[in-house]
Amino acid sequence: MPQEVRGVIAKAKGEPVSVETIVIPDPGPGEAVVAIQACGVCHTDLHYREGGINDEFPFLLGHEAAGIVESIGDDVTDVAVGDYVILNWRAVCGQCRSCQRGKPQYCFATHNATQKMTLLDGTELSPALGIGAFCEKTLVASGQCTKVNPEAKPEVAGLLGCGVMAGLGAAMNTGEVGRGDSVAVFGCGGVGDAALEGARLAGAHTIIAVDIDDKKLEWAKNFGATHTINSTKEDAVEKIRELTGGNGVDVAIEAIGLPAAYEQAFYARDLAGTVVLVGVPNPAHKIELPFIELFGRGGALKSSWYGDCLPSRDFPMLIDLYLQGRLNLEGFVSETIDLDSVEEAFHKMEAGEVLRSVVVL
Ligand SMILES: NC(=O)c1ccc[n+]([C@@H]2O[C@H](COP(=O)([O-])OP(=O)(O)OC[C@H]3O[C@@H](n4cnc5c(N)ncnc54)[C@H](O)[C@@H]3O)[C@@H](O)[C@H]2O)c1
Ligand SMILES: [Zn+2]
Ligand SMILES: [Zn+2]
Repeated sequence: MPQEVRGVIAKAKGEPVSVETIVIPDPGPGEAVVAIQACGVCHTDLHYREGGINDEFPFLLGHEAAGIVESIGDDVTDVAVGDYVILNWRAVCGQCRSCQRGKPQYCFATHNATQKMTLLDGTELSPALGIGAFCEKTLVASGQCTKVNPEAKPEVAGLLGCGVMAGLGAAMNTGEVGRGDSVAVFGCGGVGDAALEGARLAGAHTIIAVDIDDKKLEWAKNFGATHTINSTKEDAVEKIRELTGGNGVDVAIEAIGLPAAYEQAFYARDLAGTVVLVGVPNPAHKIELPFIELFGRGGALKSSWYGDCLPSRDFPMLIDLYLQGRLNLEGFVSETIDLDSVEEAFHKMEAGEVLRSVVVL
């Protein structure tokens, strides 16, 4: 029997979100219904509401979640009813050309549920990142459920489902930060702070946080920043050179999605260094760089989707590091809220008052 539950919908570009009744079908082949316990508010949810991702309104928002598998489709063997899972938005297919070449983290054909969740009048919903977890229950592909140790609280574990994983992985996987490296992170929201934390975990020695908000820079120190720069008060590129013996950092990570910050990251990097773009650009923005500088500086310009993570490999490992006290995940949870407070949480995010508001159900 399809179920009726409450969920947060963005109906039209820029309009405040509202809580509506959502119809969840029973899971079909390859699908699972998950009872959501917690879901973080990520800037990408706000990008959806602003029409910055695509125009497929109405969206069922929310995608950084943990919960319990409630029911599974007939042929599902990878998860069982009652499993405690983090939802991921890149369930790898195992068959595309990237999976077949042994690089499933770049899978070109990731899975989502095939059936649609709807409003009461039958209007089909687009779940954010194929998840839609600001909702009491959601329908996903079974491969989107990654089982982890249930000792980790849902409001903390769910964060690995998007922003925190994206940041940790931007440093550890995409940027390949190693012991003794110097790293600068531009933008110290949830994603940027996770990149700082990833750099720390990977053994970086100089970790520089750049933001335009002093409060964010203060918080960044809780995630391993050894130096902070307010780029409205001093020239970030010059200061980073000064902090690195005149050279620039080995890895510069952009975690905002702004051309101006990307340019700073590009020039703040040492010769043969790496720039990682993890912030999501606005489709209207362009970037212009001297072609000779791209060549002359060498190194690598990389983009990081979901921190190039492999959920089955990374989520259980990172939860274990958290439970061992080696990874600061608690520090990302600024507040816990209910489903009715997501719009308010967007305003707090825009005002820079929170790292993560987390909806707890
Ligand atoms: N690549 C991925 O897989 C992935 C996953 C999740 C989120 N994201 C993206 O990462 C970005 C950050 O997300 P978040 O949730 O941390 O957002 P956020 O709004 O919490 O953080 C952004 C931070 O950037 C700072 N900032 C703004 N303008 C700046 C500037 N010019 N220079 C320096 N700092 C500046 C803000 O003060 C804030 O601290 C977003 O674009 C989001 O969509 C990407
Ligand atoms: Zn694949
Ligand atoms: Zn996200």
